Amino acid sequence: MTTDFEPTPFGIPSDSGGKDLGVFMPMANGGWILSKNAPPLDGSYAYNRKVAVLAEQAGLDFIMSMSKFRGYGGETGHWNRTLDPVVLMAALAEVTSKVKVWTTIHTILQNPAVAAKMIATLDQVSGGRAGLNVVTGAYKGEFSQMGAWPEGVDHDGRYDLAKEWITAIKRLWTEDSVTMDGKYFQLDDCQSWPKPEKRPFLVCAGSSKKGMRFTSEEMDAIFLTGGNAQELAVASRLAKEDAAELGRYVRTYSMMTVVFADSDADAEKTAARYREGLDEEALWGMMRAYGFLDAEIGKENAFVAKSRSTFMTPHVLGTPETVIERLSEIFEVSDTDGLMLIFPDYLTGIPTFGTHVLPALRERFPGKIKVPVHG
Ligand SMILES: Cc1cc2nc3c(=O)[nH]c(=O)nc-3n(C[C@H](O)[C@H](O)[C@H](O)COP(=O)(O)O)c2cc1C
Repeated sequence: MTTDFEPTPFGIPSDSGGKDLGVFMPMANGGWILSKNAPPLDGSYAYNRKVAVLAEQAGLDFIMSMSKFRGYGGETGHWNRTLDPVVLMAALAEVTSKVKVWTTIHTILQNPAVAAKMIATLDQVSGGRAGLNVVTGAYKGEFSQMGAWPEGVDHDGRYDLAKEWITAIKRLWTEDSVTMDGKYFQLDDCQSWPKPEKRPFLVCAGSSKKGMRFTSEEMDAIFLTGGNAQELAVASRLAKEDAAELGRYVRTYSMMTVVFADSDADAEKTAARYREGLDEEALWGMMRAYGFLDAEIGKENAFVAKSRSTFMTPHVLGTPETVIERLSEIFEVSDTDGLMLIFPDYLTGIPTFGTHVLPALRERFPGKIKVPVHG
């Protein structure tokens, strides 16, 4: 099946077959490593500001912030402190000028007219660099703590709600008056200005069939959760074929935590240190959030075995050469359109990536990875 449909252009490398490289902003304390032995990462604005500036200096294409309302606890208090992603990205838009600024909103939390205006505002603040990661909300406790869990709306129902939500937003961004009598949202001569100059970039990370279909219908990109090149190749093809059935092209991205070391042996020692420092309480907190029953908490199962690495995402540890090989393999084998990077310590990780990894990737993939424009 051909998946050869044109992507909507957004001024990023994937517009013309290149690879979009970005950073997952560390706006939650502890980042994506559940270990007492990981470098302390406080999730503060001061830290995120430095990260955004470094990402822009390195010539990366986007910075993205997630949205989280309840942490996992434990000795590290993992993700107990999180910044608001819209306020954060608006501030970071002011300290950058080129990198795209993508934020996240939960469809069950914001009225679409409020969200339409927030993103139109971010678009103005950033000079057209705004993007939105649309998330339905999956973890009941995160929302029931604030009386905002929609009882009686199941997983797929939450994507139906999201579909109405984004339809309303797209209309508010382009039409003078919107009247809509939906199952979840009702708009009556609803008006919203300013309009974004151009529709902001939309991305979703739905991994279910329903989430993928929603993405194919409404979004510009999807985050895939797989880690190795072969898994990603399958997932990327499925996502692109799903979009192609609707005559659309959806970009596919993956995530990678990158841990640099002077030698691969040193990297192994770092990984062992993280494993020794696993914050078990935080792991139990994460499992509760993922919907594991209390009876299962504290027992060994496949999820726990995998989590003992303490890495919450796919990861690569080693010298820059090792990292270059792994990322090259992903791009060569998987046909994904981009990658979102995570580091244990972003302030050393981004410059190392920019100096030692990016030039090699540019050589391996001529014309596909952006060259930074300074000044
Ligand atoms: C890169 C990435 C970013 C995500 N960001 C958020 C987020 O900010 N907030 C959230 O509640 N869920 C987030 N999720 C979870 C997804 O939105 C989605 O619910 C999850 O992947 C399960 O897919 P499903 O909804 O199709 O079942 C993220 C997932 C990924 C892979």
